[in-house]
Amino acid sequence: MAEHLITSSLSFDDVLLEPKYSTIESRKEIDVSTDLNGLKLSLPIVSSPMDTVTESEMLRAMDAHGGLGIVHRYNNIPEQQSMINAVKRKPPLATNTGAAIGVSGDYLERAERLMNAGVTVLCLDIAHGHHVLMKNALKALRKEFGNTVHLMAGNVATLRAFNDLADWGADSIRVGIGGGSICSTRIMTGHGIPTFQSILECARSDRDAALVADGGIRTCGDIAKAIAAGADAVMLGSMLSGTDESPGEIYRVDGLPFKTYRGMASKEAQIQWRGHVSSEEGVAFRSPYKGPVSETLDLIKKSLQSSFSYSGVKNLREFQYNSLFTKITQSGMAESKPHILQK
Ligand code: XMP
Repeated sequence: MAEHLITSSLSFDDVLLEPKYSTIESRKEIDVSTDLNGLKLSLPIVSSPMDTVTESEMLRAMDAHGGLGIVHRYNNIPEQQSMINAVKRKPPLATNTGAAIGVSGDYLERAERLMNAGVTVLCLDIAHGHHVLMKNALKALRKEFGNTVHLMAGNVATLRAFNDLADWGADSIRVGIGGGSICSTRIMTGHGIPTFQSILECARSDRDAALVADGGIRTCGDIAKAIAAGADAVMLGSMLSGTDESPGEIYRVDGLPFKTYRGMASKEAQIQWRGHVSSEEGVAFRSPYKGPVSETLDLIKKSLQSSFSYSGVKNLREFQYNSLFTKITQSGMAESKPHILQK
């Protein structure tokens, strides 16, 4: 019988960052910009390629705030191309734009049309990225476009997978399997690794590829922990859902406003986009309406600056090298949340 390796994994709630001596007197001294292997962002935030998160409005807003939007691929090629055209041809023109593609079928034609529309980042977007089809697609795209495009690829959960995708040609890699707020992959397949642990592991890579933490990031504190653990940027779905710029209508339940947020492998999304359900690995959810995404992005920026200050660092690289985690217990976690009502 095969020998099963037992390892233990930490998740965001298992750790806290240790406060450190700080000489920072003002937020203005703090720089939260990042460099994803040559792609510079003034805010290390990327929006998920999901049909309830990123189409042209979110793409524009993410770029305007220094982050990166990635339009989803659950559409036909002209539809996706028009989402890029909307921000590349009508002022104010966006600088950084991302678009998701698959790794089979029409992906090369899609990539070409998106490149013609002026996209900066092509995101090879599949659930299990450590796959032969990913290998073939990365190599084919590199051959076709050389270094004229940034290739983001994923998702992966292990160092081995991270290194392979880097070697196959990825500029940045999405790290996290089964941790998304709307994911049911771990329940349905028993597979996954807590995202925080995957970040820690993949950050040990000696390859040049940038690390984009993806899935299960619920708070500004989680964003800080992901970056301190080694992420160069953080991809967000639920935190950006329910905003004015996320696709979909506002509806009311008991007088309160909501927008739908759903996993791309949910029954609802699969029926809409391909007419049938193969395996169901996501759920649909009512996201409370949050107003303009600029409010969320401003809060993230300020919280990140504050976080850097608690660690006594001025930029993202220093944060990755100088921060220290402490492992906490369930009672430590209970103390970390507001608990005045729980005596
Ligand atoms: P958050 O936690 O930010 O996660 O809402 C967003 C990420 O979840 C992934 N995603 C899925 N994972 N089933 C999954 O297992 C799904 O249906 C699904 N849809 C999205 C994706 O990586 C996204 O960025």
